[in-house]
Amino acid sequence: MEKIKMILDCDVGHDDAVALMVAAKHPALELLGVTAVAGNQTLDKTLPNTLHVCQHLGLRVPVYGGMTLPMVRDQITAGDIHGKSGLDGPVFEPLTWKQAEREHAVSYLIRTLMDSDGDITLVPVAPLTNIAMAMRLEPRIIPKIRRIVMMGGAYGLGNTTPAAEFNVFVDPEAAHVVFTSWVPLVMMGLDLTNQTLADLSVIQRMEALGNPAGKLFGDIMRFTHKSQAAVGLAAGPVHDVTAVVYLFAPEVFTTRPAYVQVDLSRGPSYGRTVCDFVGRLGHAPNAQVGTGVDLARFWDIVASTLALY
Ligand code: BDR
Ligand code: CA
Repeated sequence: MEKIKMILDCDVGHDDAVALMVAAKHPALELLGVTAVAGNQTLDKTLPNTLHVCQHLGLRVPVYGGMTLPMVRDQITAGDIHGKSGLDGPVFEPLTWKQAEREHAVSYLIRTLMDSDGDITLVPVAPLTNIAMAMRLEPRIIPKIRRIVMMGGAYGLGNTTPAAEFNVFVDPEAAHVVFTSWVPLVMMGLDLTNQTLADLSVIQRMEALGNPAGKLFGDIMRFTHKSQAAVGLAAGPVHDVTAVVYLFAPEVFTTRPAYVQVDLSRGPSYGRTVCDFVGRLGHAPNAQVGTGVDLARFWDIVASTLALY
């Protein structure tokens, strides 16, 4: 079977690291490259975090550094959830052989998409700054993108403000560019991703794999198991992993079509993804929005993929 070609855009990040582990190893996927962006922490942390995960697990995939700041708004990060480094918990050996590529992530995205046959899926699990910048710099990439499967937003409550989810709140203007591009888009929002709690039984299951990936999963998720209490969750969700798993196992999720509009007004709902499921705004749907997940099958997929390390 032909593999699904994908580029992962991330701000590693605990759940990003697990998403990277699954994307790099699942046999249905061909991970062409990884682009890093500022989000959970500043880029001078999220980029090395990405490299550390790759080096630790022997992943040869090329990694590109991208945007250091949002398009318009002031920068915010998520040190309360992900710690000072953005990936507190695991201890990595110093970086030796794994280095970032010299090319900027935005140039890499444009070059790769323009050279493609329109068969590449973008998987952003971070603020959408890199993707939006690439679309603005070279709009001809837009019809070249097969589709976007992203983690971000919510049709219910936010996690950074009462109205807004972190990835969209960090760069609402970038999210607006992406949602108005009309590229076929799947949005895995908090309504679904908050269900993917890596509680102690999940952590112990992955650790019991007895390999480096299972151990890293434990070191990572034991940290967010504690830090997520700050936002009222009993354990750490692996939000970003849902976007990766959706690519090759969409049957594990339920989605509904909606017209999604990002609130760009600077009031209390700045960065909210307003999801119109019933067409009240008079627009055709621009996204499939995730509403449910079969958790048993989801964790089986994560476990069987990590077992391949
Ligand atoms: C999203 O924000 C980040 O902290 C996580 O990595 C995830 O991408 C959840 O709101
Ligand atoms: Ca992320």
